[in-house]
Amino acid sequence: MTESLREAAGFLRKLGEPKVAVVLGSGLGDVLPLEDEQAVSFADVPGFPRPTAPGHKGEIAVGKLENVEVLVQRGRLHYYEGYSPEEIVFPVRTYALLGAKVLVLTNASGGIAEGLAPGDLVLIRDHINMLGFNPLRGPNLDELGPRFPDMTRVYDPELRRIAHDVARGLGIELREGVYLATMGPSYETPAEIKAFRALGADLVGMSTVPEVIAARHAGVRVLAISCVTNLAAGIAKHPLSHEEVLEIGKRKAAELGRLLRALIPRLPV
Ligand code: HPA
Repeated sequence: MTESLREAAGFLRKLGEPKVAVVLGSGLGDVLPLEDEQAVSFADVPGFPRPTAPGHKGEIAVGKLENVEVLVQRGRLHYYEGYSPEEIVFPVRTYALLGAKVLVLTNASGGIAEGLAPGDLVLIRDHINMLGFNPLRGPNLDELGPRFPDMTRVYDPELRRIAHDVARGLGIELREGVYLATMGPSYETPAEIKAFRALGADLVGMSTVPEVIAARHAGVRVLAISCVTNLAAGIAKHPLSHEEVLEIGKRKAAELGRLLRALIPRLPV
């Protein structure tokens, strides 16, 4: 496993050695153009799986934001697509081996907490893993991290503080919440959403948690921003659709892009 990760990192090293890696989620793939960008598709990188979800591009770009070298992954891999947990975290582990110190993730989510509305941007403060798996299962990759990694402060408090400061400076409202990850691909039932709310979830989605666990295992600091694309099932009065999710994502993309462009050069790496 580490051999194929090394090979992938060696391939990407030809594009640069970014200290910040960014994973952009559903409908959010276009929000972060870089300066002097060089891009490859997932299919070009040895060992990388290929994404299949509509609205997901499957490319990796390395370039600059205000002279800071950044890697951007446009499109991600979901468990519901049929990938194994190992495949899902392969890219993030590659970025860790490449030397990334900070991982920034974006995703689309359904809003559970009272007061959330479609279009809201929410900084993830913590997560609840209801995926039914942990991507670290199996022999530990000792070169990456420990067998039993701590998960007390997964979403780095210092990075969150910086994100709030930057958002405030731009006049962008940024809330905070707990993200619960489900396997998907079916959306939740109203009874499930009621249960998730009782568990302490503010947001629900089908991604992010595997990558975050793998990043923390490898000692990479994590910041995650969720775009609420819809009210969760039963809170919304109408049935949910993927088109709605993509549409709201597109509408908020400009604002999220503005936030990321200002924020990323300010991250401590
Ligand atoms: N549920 C799960 N995943 C999602 C949702 C949702 O309501 N919206 C966007 N991704």
